[in-house]
Amino acid sequence: MSVTIDLKGKKALVFGIANDKSIAWHIAKRLNDAGCRIAAGYQERTEQWSLPLMKELNNPVYAKCDVVDDALMDSFFKKMQEELGEVDFLIHSIAFAKREHLQGKFMNVDKRGYEVAHQVSAYSLIELARRTAPMLKNNGSIIAMTYLGSERVTPGYNIMGVAKAALESSVRYLAYDFGEKQIRVNAISAGPIATLAASGIANFPEMLLNYVSKAPLKRNITADEVADCALFLCSDLSKAITGQIIFVDAGYNVMGI
Ligand SMILES: NC(=O)c1ccc[n+]([C@@H]2O[C@H](COP(=O)([O-])OP(=O)(O)OC[C@H]3O[C@@H](n4cnc5c(N)ncnc54)[C@H](O)[C@@H]3O)[C@@H](O)[C@H]2O)c1
Repeated sequence: MSVTIDLKGKKALVFGIANDKSIAWHIAKRLNDAGCRIAAGYQERTEQWSLPLMKELNNPVYAKCDVVDDALMDSFFKKMQEELGEVDFLIHSIAFAKREHLQGKFMNVDKRGYEVAHQVSAYSLIELARRTAPMLKNNGSIIAMTYLGSERVTPGYNIMGVAKAALESSVRYLAYDFGEKQIRVNAISAGPIATLAASGIANFPEMLLNYVSKAPLKRNITADEVADCALFLCSDLSKAITGQIIFVDAGYNVMGI
């Protein structure tokens, strides 16, 4: 049986395109190439890299959006409601923690650092899902990005691991909320990939080496491989899968040593 994933006529809201290394960019390209129209929300600070990328998409819609700025969120969703009416997919590929909290001892995180990491990296999924809900069609799909540091200690990942645990739990609760409309909510747990966000993690180079030596596939993964999984999760091939954390990590998570 040969299967072609055709997303013609579908529309996706994509958050997290900072530059051409961003996982969100690889997902947007893959969905775009399958016929899906992309509506991107980007941060002002990444505008110089994100905007030129829009030219590579077919008929995209895009606007500034920052998940900690209510006015920008309002104007983004107003624009998307007017231009798109309905959407099929929501891709959440956003995370942030202060650099000083992605190194050293986890216990040194302060209250503000804890709050910021959770607000941007976990709460934003709930708010974006709630704001998207009135536009989201039945049989749609919501995808978030996570990392194994949510359940295993990854020195340096620190507060982001705790925020990812909240994100993953939110995925399960949202899966229940959205289930009656046959909308699935899942997270992809990716192995380490060199991106802007990853450059803030002090032990990142060591993480990459660790995967090569310990993962069953003896290698690191690519953002394109994450995009393949996202394409699957947007397609009918995954229509009975929801509330799951799906690992795209060369199998690293199954190892005990
Ligand atoms: N790179 C990795 O190794 C890796 C592994 C597993 C999971 N992830 C996750 O993948 C997702 C995407 O990260 P990436 O690695 O592609 O890095 P990235 O830096 O390219 O993307 C992070 C995005 O978050 C956005 N963002 C940060 N604060 C925001 C805010 N206040 N409002 C709106 N957007 C905001 C940035 O603009 C950026 O586009 C994150 O959730 C990250 O934790 C990354």
